[in-house]
Amino acid sequence: MATAPKPKSAYVCNACGARYPKWAGQCQECGAWNSLQEVAELRRRPAERSGGYAGVVDSNKIETLAEVSPEERQRVQSGIGELDRVLGGGLVAGSVVLIGGDPGIGKSTLLLQACAALAAEQPVLYVSGEESPQQIGLRARRLGLSGGGIRLLAETCVEQILAHAEQERPRVMVVDSIQTLYTETLQSAPGSVSQVRESAAQLVRFAKQRDTVVFLVGHVTKDGALAGPRVLEHMVDTVLYFEGEHGGPFRIVRSIKNRFGAVNELGVFSMGDQGLREVKNPSAIFLSRHDQPVSGSLVMVTREGTRPLLVEVQALVDESPLANPRRVALGLDQNRLSMLLAVLHRHGGIGMFNQDVFVNVVGGVRIAETAADLPVLLAVLSSYRDRPLPLDLAAFGEIGLSGEVRPVPNGPDRLREAVKHGIRRAIVPKGNAPKEGVEGLEITVVRTLGEALGAAF
Ligand code: TYD
Ligand code: MG
Repeated sequence: MATAPKPKSAYVCNACGARYPKWAGQCQECGAWNSLQEVAELRRRPAERSGGYAGVVDSNKIETLAEVSPEERQRVQSGIGELDRVLGGGLVAGSVVLIGGDPGIGKSTLLLQACAALAAEQPVLYVSGEESPQQIGLRARRLGLSGGGIRLLAETCVEQILAHAEQERPRVMVVDSIQTLYTETLQSAPGSVSQVRESAAQLVRFAKQRDTVVFLVGHVTKDGALAGPRVLEHMVDTVLYFEGEHGGPFRIVRSIKNRFGAVNELGVFSMGDQGLREVKNPSAIFLSRHDQPVSGSLVMVTREGTRPLLVEVQALVDESPLANPRRVALGLDQNRLSMLLAVLHRHGGIGMFNQDVFVNVVGGVRIAETAADLPVLLAVLSSYRDRPLPLDLAAFGEIGLSGEVRPVPNGPDRLREAVKHGIRRAIVPKGNAPKEGVEGLEITVVRTLGEALGAAF
């Protein structure tokens, strides 16, 4: 029997693509420093191809686009509604899902719960490179899961994992985490960019060829310092990230990329003794209910993914002792806040040059859409003037640099959600008001920032 050829690796310059057999600090071709990265050198002989994964190569033939059967991929429900929602309506066979997030935020907990629900219907393999089977067993007991159908494997070598998976043939496989894996084809340490990339590439290949759903857990530090998961985002079908305040009870899972569904879809959970529980009505948790109207607070209607959400924005404007007053935005883009303050000065005639401005979105959710512009400015002004806005008032709308208030997508949808949660008055852009109105809601349409300020104060 011929011995397996020793795996080879090479080093490639990130900047110019030059290849080297050994690592060096500087690329001789283009002069870039620290640009050489280890890559696996797969020397496939032509005969090897057809033997690799039997039958698969033969099926790769060229088709006309019109002939490709457009049948919707069959989805499997994970049994956790909010997870299915961020995935775009369930798990898609053969897809690879990357779940990122800070350490301890609940990645392993969520996947273990999902596995327990899925294992009732199909074979599930949970591969852990971080925890021993005993630790996972302890967690399962804590979560009150029977763990009946879940197969466990504690292993960090990708080749070994795939060998086991070939035997087990799971429909769903979890790998926790990708940073702990290594492949025999590379010599660099587990967790390095090249190891992470090569390990993931092998797992992606397995998912596609065996029609298995693969969940990859990825670690990121606060400032996203770890390069690994960023590289991964291009290779996988779906990227989910945990966000939200670590200390608080709520955990928000957001889809950053999804080949099978909407991006920015949110799944909301609360972390308790029994692990993660779905929050079925998330608007309720992002509204901090005050008994009395307070200045600097306003409800906005945002739309993340396919679901409208009511969120409270809070602002505090206070005289600044600093030469450069502070502009702090939590859950919002700081540059956007600076821009809005400039528009407020230029088109509303209100300057805040000697004031610190703090803006916070309640509940730790991150708002990326421009519909937050109008409510943010109204909250800021409410705090500045110490004029509380009504508790049953909501607003949304984008503000342009020339002081115009622009419509945002899905206006009627947002208004209906607002009414459902007890909102009775709304300030909205002209283009967003439904012609026939919304029952139980007094809608004020505005075209410019000036009109909006007039309507609110
Ligand atoms: P974990 O899921 O291991 O996080 P990750 O895999 O993202 O690093 O742990 C989540 C945290 O949640 C951990 O600090 C303990 C806590 N926790 C609960 O509060 N309740 C529970 O039922 C469980 C299992 C964990
Ligand atoms: Mg974990």
